[in-house]
Order: sequence, then C-alpha cells, then structure tokens
Amino acid sequence: MARNYGNDNKSALQAKTDAQKIAFAPIMFQAAKALRDFGILSFLRKEKNGKTLKEIAEKAGISEYGALVLLEAGLSTELVYVVNDKYFITKTGYFWVADKLTRVNTDFTHDVNYKGFFHLQEAVKTGKPAGLHKEFGSWATVYEALAEMPEQFRKSWFNFDHYYSDDSFPEVMPVIFKNNPKKILDIGGNTGKFAIKCASFNKDAKITILDLPGQLKDAEKNIKKSGFSDRISTYPINLLDFSKPYPKGYDIIWMSQFLDCFSEGEVVKLIKNASDAMNKNTELFIMETFWDKQRFEASTYSLHATSLYFTCIANGNSRMYHSEDMIKLTEKAGLKVSEIIENVGVSHTILRCKK
Ligand SMILES: C[S@@+](CC[C@H](N)C(=O)[O-])C[C@H]1O[C@@H](n2cnc3c(N)ncnc32)[C@H](O)[C@@H]1O
Repeated sequence: MARNYGNDNKSALQAKTDAQKIAFAPIMFQAAKALRDFGILSFLRKEKNGKTLKEIAEKAGISEYGALVLLEAGLSTELVYVVNDKYFITKTGYFWVADKLTRVNTDFTHDVNYKGFFHLQEAVKTGKPAGLHKEFGSWATVYEALAEMPEQFRKSWFNFDHYYSDDSFPEVMPVIFKNNPKKILDIGGNTGKFAIKCASFNKDAKITILDLPGQLKDAEKNIKKSGFSDRISTYPINLLDFSKPYPKGYDIIWMSQFLDCFSEGEVVKLIKNASDAMNKNTELFIMETFWDKQRFEASTYSLHATSLYFTCIANGNSRMYHSEDMIKLTEKAGLKVSEIIENVGVSHTILRCKK
C-alpha cells in the first residue's frame, strides 16, 4: 500500500514559527530540563497563586539572573506563564515535570542521546553508530556496551526500554497462554521481566531467555530474586552470529521490541533462524511499536525520534519499523502472519506468525 502521512496545510507564518522551534530545540530542551531539575516547576505546581522571580530563585538556590533566563525560555516553550510579575505553571509544564512517559523520554534523550547526536550526519553517511563511537567507545552496537556504560546511561536506557514493554506484558499474558503453551523461548529477553511475568502467570510454563552474556547477568540476578530459577533458564548468544541455531522444542517464540534493533537484512536472517527452530505448531509472536499503528500524534513523533537513536547510538542501521515493512520481512523469511493484534499497552502491535 502507498504510504500517506502528514500534509502541508499551515500558513507561512506558522511554518516559519515552527522552523524556529526546530532551530532552537536543543537549547530549549536543556532550559526545560533545568526548569525541571532545579525544582522550579515542582515549586510552581504547588503554588496556585504563582510565585515571583525572587521567590523562585531563592527556592531553586540559583541567582535571579539564572532563574530569569530559564523562566523566559519557559514562557516561549509554554511551560510557564506570567501575570503581574508572578509565574505560574502551564498544563505542558505539569506534564513535563509530573508525567512518567515524558520524564522517561526526556532522560533517554539527555543521558543516552544528547552528546552523541552531534555526530548524526556521520552516522547517516557511514551506517555506523558514530555517536556511540565518538562519545562512549568502539563497540559494534550499544547492546554489547550496555553492561559497561555509565550508570546514568544504563538507568535511562533501561527505564526507556522497560516503560514501553512493562505496560504491555500483563495484557499479553492471556494472548500468549491461550493455547496453554508449556515452553516459551524469549529472544532478546533482556533483564528477564517478560520471562518472570510468564512464570508467575502460569505455574507450569518453562521459559528460556536468549540474549548477550552482559544482559543475562542482570536477568540471572532477577530470576534468582523472583524464585523461578527452576523454570527460567538463560542461553547466552550473539544473535548476529547467524550460524548459531536457536534451541528447538518450544511452543512459542517471543520477540518483543527486539527486531527494531536490527537492519532489514538482519531481521530476515533472525526470523529465518527462529523459523528453523519452529515445528508446524510453534508460533512466533513479534511485538513492536510500529509508527503507523499509533493512536496519538505524540507516539508517532516519539518513534520517529527513536529511529534516529538506532542510527546514531544503537547500531547505525535499524529503525522503528512501519508495520507493512515488518510484515514483508517476515514473509521474506518464509513465515505467514496469521493475526495482527493492535493497541496492546501504550503503543504495541503483535504479529502472530506461523510456518
Ligand atoms: C530493546 S531490548 C528489548 C528487551 C525486551 N525484549 C523488552 O521487550 O523490553 C533488545 C534486546 O535485544 C538484545 N540484543 C540486541 N542485539 C543482540 C545480539 N546481537 N545478540 C543477542 N541479543 C541481542 C539486547 O541485549 C536487548 O536485551
């Protein structure tokens, strides 16, 4: 199907205004983050009658000059407004400081991406994660680097990753366990959250997690803590080594927020390897946030930005896929998509696939 998204219907004045918003976006982003981190927005949130510049500067422990330039930036980004020299928080200011989704996205932008994005153009030209290489180290992908990354990077990366999938996992359980599977293979199972959810949902289910050795260290700690060591096992593997077959004998193979970490060519090979491990009754479930399947403009905006994280920081060659592209790749790998389950959690879609 031909792709359609967006239009060019705004006035020239609006268009020029919006262009300036993009031109100054990184500066305004830092100012907004400072308004949050200095506690200025939280302070204004508690104050129905507004606060003066002097009161705000004192509370934040910064100079009046510092508070003034941040607040004036906040007027333009519509985080605050001012009436008779008293500042008030806006609705956007409220979401910027109090909404978990916004905080997770902000911290991901700042701690994982911000510095590296100076090198985006090089990443686009070379197909390599130039931001990762220039700012952090010469790993081939961010996944190999995760275990060794600075604490703040790791924290914001995991919060971002988990925020989206955590919400979906409870909704997914009845779908996964509909046909009473006994053995589940979780490919790219990360810190074990999905496997633990399955083990607590169904007392007989056995789950194996495939992931890089670094991630599995975290998973093993979590599995032990949850008391499911007898039913959840780990299987360290670099899945980019396509010569390594996956273990066989599973009723379900699960890939959540996994295939977006790979280029189109790699996706086909990964699905082919999964297919080789499937019998005629095994089902492959692919859960992804497809940018064309979003209910909200903000979700599509976030996914288009997240694609560039893959370009610049993660690996240089993957993206948040359009659902039709992923379906084509699945079919190219020889599987049939038997069902598409939409609106799972915040923004996920599940492709149910068979041989
Ligand atoms: C975005 S995370 C998704 C985690 C989890 N499935 C979820 O839904 O939250 C992708 C996972 O794929 C794993 N991964 C990426 N490249 C890999 C590779 N080459 N070999 C094995 N695992 C890999 C990462 O370590 C990470 O745990």
